[in-house]
Amino acid sequence: MKQEIIQKFEEKRKIITSEALEYLLGCAEPEKIAEKTLEETDGSFIELDDVKRKKKKFKPEKVEIKKGKSFKPKAKDIEPDIKIFREKEVTGNSLSEGTEKDFHKHFLDRFQRLSKILRKRGKAKRDLASVKKAGSSKDTQAIGMINTKRRTKNNHYFMEIEDETGTLNVLVPKNNKKLIRFSHSIIEDEVIAVEGTLKNDLFIANKIIRPDIPPKGHKTPDETVRVAMISDTHFGSKYFMKNKFKKFLSWLNGEKGNGDQRKVAGEVKYLIIAGDIVDGIGIYPGQNKELEETDVFDQYEMAEEYLKKVPEHIHIIISPGNHDAVRTADPQPALPEKFMPELFQQDNVHRIGSPGYISLHGVEILVYHGASIHSMVPHIPNLTYREPEKVIPEFLKRRHMHPLYGGKPPISPEPKDYLAIDRVPDIVQVGDVHRNGYETYRGVLGVNSGTWQAETPFQVKQGHEPTPGELPVIDLSSLKINVIHFNKGEKK
Ligand SMILES: [Fe+2]
Repeated sequence: MKQEIIQKFEEKRKIITSEALEYLLGCAEPEKIAEKTLEETDGSFIELDDVKRKKKKFKPEKVEIKKGKSFKPKAKDIEPDIKIFREKEVTGNSLSEGTEKDFHKHFLDRFQRLSKILRKRGKAKRDLASVKKAGSSKDTQAIGMINTKRRTKNNHYFMEIEDETGTLNVLVPKNNKKLIRFSHSIIEDEVIAVEGTLKNDLFIANKIIRPDIPPKGHKTPDETVRVAMISDTHFGSKYFMKNKFKKFLSWLNGEKGNGDQRKVAGEVKYLIIAGDIVDGIGIYPGQNKELEETDVFDQYEMAEEYLKKVPEHIHIIISPGNHDAVRTADPQPALPEKFMPELFQQDNVHRIGSPGYISLHGVEILVYHGASIHSMVPHIPNLTYREPEKVIPEFLKRRHMHPLYGGKPPISPEPKDYLAIDRVPDIVQVGDVHRNGYETYRGVLGVNSGTWQAETPFQVKQGHEPTPGELPVIDLSSLKINVIHFNKGEKK
């Protein structure tokens, strides 16, 4: 499509700017708008405004919500305390051109970050060349990234690990049942330490250690201050649950709910959105039939209209997902301002990447859309799409959010690995699977914040069962969760 459109302009000896082209490609009928622009624009250069003028103006539906009478939210009197760790996300820092050199740098950086964590643990570890050079020896330790892993005919596990100095063949003998069980969950490209004995160039493992996280204590605020977590709103989809989302917005504004719930609403100081704000276009075959708005800009305009109803004392932190209008490869940069210009200009709205890392009143939160769940579930025993929150401990054990290269979504080989977890958060929030779930691992709270999209025919085919309209609200002073249900009653 992109090439065809460029060609159209070239044939008429006109040059379209990259900004205008990008805008055009996000429209519902790019070819029609391109033709109209060509017919009605003089001059050799086609700029963004020339294209925008030709697009039919979208008028989003007015969003009516209810506001609670005499609602005095406690959170209005709480000073915001928000820190965004910009150095921990790719936004504005992307340096990858996808070259072989970039891949080498990326994996080296991953290895160095994760091996540093493993080196701090227990016995001294040697590099693989030194292990091999020392010849046959007992009780040796080495650190490497898994290149390959396979089960042998005799039910041993055979792995090849690699570091900057070379490779090492590792055997997990079948009689070490505990280690065989552990090895079931080892996936390619994760970084591990092995302990064992080297015999004729084959390393017989008796222990395997992951970088993992130490048990986590928390620095929490003294007073109750709450963060509401949502994800996967999918504005623009026919299945976006308008009424339920309006109920949620009304609740944030002090309407609805019993006394206790209203008190909780009044204590919400932050709202985090972990991606898939809109449904996007061309994400999967036949998606068009499931869209109410087929233009990605209109989808964002609709989202903006709704999100502007969040009371202004609440700070909104927005991170993208694979349906949003940024690259799909992980890590994803923050949404550009042009998609929701009015909202993004508000002082209480913050854009972060996916992953993005923030601190609210000293409580550190790692926000990641969670697209790599699709490459973790098929490769790790006991993980299912019914309990997507169980993937979060697997990220933490490996200190990485997307260990398996070659899975979904693709990884952009940034020279710095933004997917490595080298700082341990207090909370990890993911979305993507449209199913709420909560899991604590070594003191770190994992949240899958579900969705506001009803089950789509595509999900029925995939066998996913979403839990739309379920809102987790976390008290930062205790990390306790209140779940508010907006999923009762009518379907939408
Ligand atoms: Fe989604």
